[in-house]
Amino acid sequence: MDITVSTPGKIILSGEHAVVYGYPALVAATNKRCELHYQGTAEPEWSADWLSQFASLKAFFAAWEARPTTQHLQLRSHVPVGRGMGSSAACSVAAAAVWQSLQGKTFSPEAINQLAYQLEVLQHGTPSGVDNTIATYGGALWFRKETPTFSIFRQVEMSSSLETLWLVDSGRPKESTKEMVTMVAEQRQQRRTHYDQLFRQMEEVTRSWLRWVLGEETDSVELLRTNHRLLVELGVVSPQTQSLIQAIEKSGGAAKITGAGGAKQGSGYLLVMHPDEAKLQSVLKPYARSGERLELGGEGVRIE
Ligand code: PMV
Repeated sequence: MDITVSTPGKIILSGEHAVVYGYPALVAATNKRCELHYQGTAEPEWSADWLSQFASLKAFFAAWEARPTTQHLQLRSHVPVGRGMGSSAACSVAAAAVWQSLQGKTFSPEAINQLAYQLEVLQHGTPSGVDNTIATYGGALWFRKETPTFSIFRQVEMSSSLETLWLVDSGRPKESTKEMVTMVAEQRQQRRTHYDQLFRQMEEVTRSWLRWVLGEETDSVELLRTNHRLLVELGVVSPQTQSLIQAIEKSGGAAKITGAGGAKQGSGYLLVMHPDEAKLQSVLKPYARSGERLELGGEGVRIE
């Protein structure tokens, strides 16, 4: 048996962290993909019991590779690791898709997504499910988690011009996604009213983002700036990243983290909006950073 599957990474345009608490998120797949290649004869049994033995996605992969068979598993990923671009979800979805194939089952994105969500739970504890859902379906999605096991989502046709969007790496966060999500949960427990108010404001911003993506709203720079301020208040943007974003804002652009962020040093990839490429690159230079064009709307999971 010889199977190769590929899955996209993602960018959360708006709604990270809030999405964990049932607020909507707007998310899009990128053109950076993760590829998993399986070669072997074994057809491992899939069971919930077997899955629950693992504490992380890494442990799951290690155990899979160590099975006493003639199988071979190779992961190649262009999705930057640990930087808010959905690398773990892309891996989880790829693993779930290979698994489904090994069992001789018909390709079912829904079943792949459910399995990948279980892998994401191993990795992150209480994920919203937005990352595995976008890696499964691709394109752009409006997503909302209604209960821990039930989410609603719908494809969004992006009609706004995305030419002014860039990606800038603010550095790998010291914290994991799990740690960032736990930190926000602990803060929320202490200041419930304040945090819920922040999440409601984020929902407003996410709705405005949706209108922008649909071509119904124009002031996207201001929107991104408001989005960033709310994320700063949430405590997920490090002082170092804040000063980088401040410099981008001063030169006429705007930026925000995209994903869990990081409070100590790097905060992962930034979603940047800037009308002038030359200006943006010269602002980034003293920080030893550069902007790369963002291509959104990548295809979801596919068998190569
Ligand atoms: O940093 P990432 O790519 O793992 O994205 C996490 C997104 C959060 O909203 C912070 C968590 C979640 O489960 O949705």
